[in-house]
Amino acid sequence: MNPRKLLAFFFFFFFRRFSSASAENLSFDFPSFNFRNLTFLGSSHIRNGVVGLTRDLPVPTSSAGSVLYNSPVRFFDPDSNTTASFSTRFTFSFSNLNPSSSGDGMSFFLSPNNQTLGSSGAYLGLLNSSLPTLNHFIAVEFDTRQDTHFSDPNDNHVGLDIDTLISIKTADPIDQDVDLKSGTAITAWIDYKNDQETLKVYLSYSGFKPETPVLNVGIDLSGYLKEVMYVGFSASTEGSTELHEIENWSFRTSGFVPKRPTLHPHNVSDTYVIVSPRLPAPEKGHKRRLGLGLGIAGPAFFCVALVVFGYVSVRKWREVRRVKSFKAEVVAGPRQFSYRELRAATGGFHGSRIIGHGAFGTVYKAFFVASGTIAAVKRSRHSHEGKTEFLAELSIIACLRHKNLVHLQGWCVEKGELLLVYDFMPNGSLERVLYQESEEGNLLDWPHRQNVAIGLASVLTYMHQECEQQVIHRDIKTGNVLLDGNFNAKLGDFGLAKLMDHDKSPVSTLTAGTMGYLAPEYLQYGKATEKTDAFSYGVVILELACGRRPIERIPDCHKMVNLVDWVWGLHSEGRIIDAADQRLAGEFDVEEMRKLLLVGLSCANPDSSKRPTMRRVLQILSNEAEPPAVPRVKPSLSFSCGVSLSVDDIVSDCDGSLTSSMCEIVVN
Ligand SMILES: *[C@@H]1O[C@H](CO)[C@@H](O)[C@H](O)[C@H]1NC(C)=O
Ligand SMILES: *[C@@H]1O[C@H](CO)[C@@H](O)[C@H](O)[C@H]1NC(C)=O
Ligand SMILES: *[C@@H]1O[C@H](CO)[C@@H](O)[C@H](O)[C@H]1NC(C)=O
Ligand SMILES: *[C@@H]1O[C@H](CO)[C@@H](O)[C@H](O)[C@H]1NC(C)=O
Ligand SMILES: *[C@@H]1O[C@H](CO)[C@@H](O)[C@H](O)[C@H]1NC(C)=O
Ligand SMILES: *[C@@H]1O[C@H](CO)[C@@H](O)[C@H](O)[C@H]1NC(C)=O
Ligand SMILES: *[C@@H]1O[C@H](CO)[C@@H](O)[C@H](O)[C@H]1NC(C)=O
Repeated sequence: MNPRKLLAFFFFFFFRRFSSASAENLSFDFPSFNFRNLTFLGSSHIRNGVVGLTRDLPVPTSSAGSVLYNSPVRFFDPDSNTTASFSTRFTFSFSNLNPSSSGDGMSFFLSPNNQTLGSSGAYLGLLNSSLPTLNHFIAVEFDTRQDTHFSDPNDNHVGLDIDTLISIKTADPIDQDVDLKSGTAITAWIDYKNDQETLKVYLSYSGFKPETPVLNVGIDLSGYLKEVMYVGFSASTEGSTELHEIENWSFRTSGFVPKRPTLHPHNVSDTYVIVSPRLPAPEKGHKRRLGLGLGIAGPAFFCVALVVFGYVSVRKWREVRRVKSFKAEVVAGPRQFSYRELRAATGGFHGSRIIGHGAFGTVYKAFFVASGTIAAVKRSRHSHEGKTEFLAELSIIACLRHKNLVHLQGWCVEKGELLLVYDFMPNGSLERVLYQESEEGNLLDWPHRQNVAIGLASVLTYMHQECEQQVIHRDIKTGNVLLDGNFNAKLGDFGLAKLMDHDKSPVSTLTAGTMGYLAPEYLQYGKATEKTDAFSYGVVILELACGRRPIERIPDCHKMVNLVDWVWGLHSEGRIIDAADQRLAGEFDVEEMRKLLLVGLSCANPDSSKRPTMRRVLQILSNEAEPPAVPRVKPSLSFSCGVSLSVDDIVSDCDGSLTSSMCEIVVN
């Protein structure tokens, strides 16, 4: 075709499009992605213009995510009683650092609502495991795990699913030398032709559409296409490191070709076709003729656009590939251990090797004879609950890098057991060192205490403000602060931690944490934020300064004393320095001690808006900012909501013997 003819063809095409009231037809194209025009659900995210549907972590996780085009798309026109044909093209890749843990896969779907998000695991982020009839969808699945539950033929198949994950028809792309798990970019084309009643899926490693489809289903979708629907992608993992990424996407509907008979109203009942899979491309005389115009113009335009686009983006694409392969080499991080290795190293998980109990299980000391190293191995309880917490911990700690975090060496998921391997901390927890060891005469000296306070502030600044996704620890306490050989603080036990995207409001969850370290608003609303972490941090550094537990019984009197109230009381009387740990016998810098106590009080301010950020705390402790001004009288707290909460509700853990002066909560 010479250029002039090509131009004429384009004019013709656009003229046709715009002259024939094409308001109903929709097309969009994302050569790369940003947050515009898309709805993200679950774990889906964007990185460098690429959409990731599941969690992007170097360790096994369970997650589900979906991303949808945010405007509804018309698929049925009630006025003319016609349904649309549609075609879509997208380039995706499934990469996996640890190919032995594959699964579960991805889908392209059409759904009547914009909230479709299913469960992790085998559900491809489409189907809700507890309510399997909740979500309605027409989906093409790209499945990398064999689930006999859903009659999957193997761990590399493409299938058409309607409202259930038991496919109407499946096909194995290996027949066309395409392996979904290869890690290379794959381009998929999905074409539904309303007039031919066929849905075809093409796959290729190159950007060129092959002649023969991988999957070819004869089906009439008109009974399932709603007036408006949302289109998008979903994916899930279950304890695997598979990543599901989409690099570009274009979609269009075309031709509301008359489908349902409009001239024989009494013929209506025949038009709701029950879906029955059958062999493709039956002859359909008049419908074929009607669709012919589209049939030629559509693909021709598509091919031209593709060639132009392909040319433009070829350089960019090469760049992306280079970056990707580089990334794959650099990522090292935690490794997978075998169960045998860990069992041998812990003497068969012998009771004598137990060194502690964490939020989700027992911690053992492990000796690796081959390498001559020592590690701490956390072994989960068997319940599903434990598993969720385990995966939470694994995924969170694996994406954090900081010198004041316990270093994760690896994990093991085998024999129904979940194990985490950490660096061993010879000095145990801060709680032990501060209270037990001190009893035995090994008092933690002042410079070490200051070092712990600064180390903790540093890692919390990192978690709250500096890492890509904000992490709220939710259980900061002396028992979760471990000390290495040089008494450097290492924050551990992320069993309760939650990742949250910056700028998203924190999700309310059931209260979890430890009594004495919980901020009043956390008790009230069960909402963990960086401010509730700051409160717990405040309590920990008051413990460091005073050598007292957060809630302590006064000797020879029944009263319980709350550390924050006690220090604040001394501050009111202008003698805050009297709060310093008596056991230090004055061996500390008075001004530094005063500063630590004031920082502790300001962090433990009942009014969360008055608490400093962890970055501010770090600046104060490193003498880069002035110590905070702390009001003489502890502010009393007014909750704006009408929920009444009695002091007994809050401190039911503490023998009920607390008096109201300990927790000044004023309920409006
Ligand atoms: C949609 O586009 C096709 C050409 O692709 C055209 O034939 C048809 O009339 C359009 N439909 C509407 C409702 O505009
Ligand atoms: C996104 O939405 C804007 C405004 O609604 C529109 O102009 C733009 O074309 C859309 N982009 C895509 C890729 O659909
Ligand atoms: C879902 O669609 C409704 C309108 O149909 C809209 O009001 C709502 O904001 C959408 N939700 C999301 C998350 O896009
Ligand atoms: C499944 O449905 C229930 C009830 O609507 C809902 O609470 C739950 O969050 C859903 N699960 C997922 C993974 O969307
Ligand atoms: C379209 O079809 C429906 C049934 O499928 C029928 O009830 C309706 O009358 C038809 N509308 C027109 C405008 O022909
Ligand atoms: C329905 O329409 C077909 C032609 O499309 C005709 O052969 C048939 O007799 C009609 N059925 C009824 C019940 O009118
Ligand atoms: C989509 O991305 C792939 C891989 O980056 C590239 O090969 C292809 O040309 C892109 N397609 C379009 C239309 O941009």
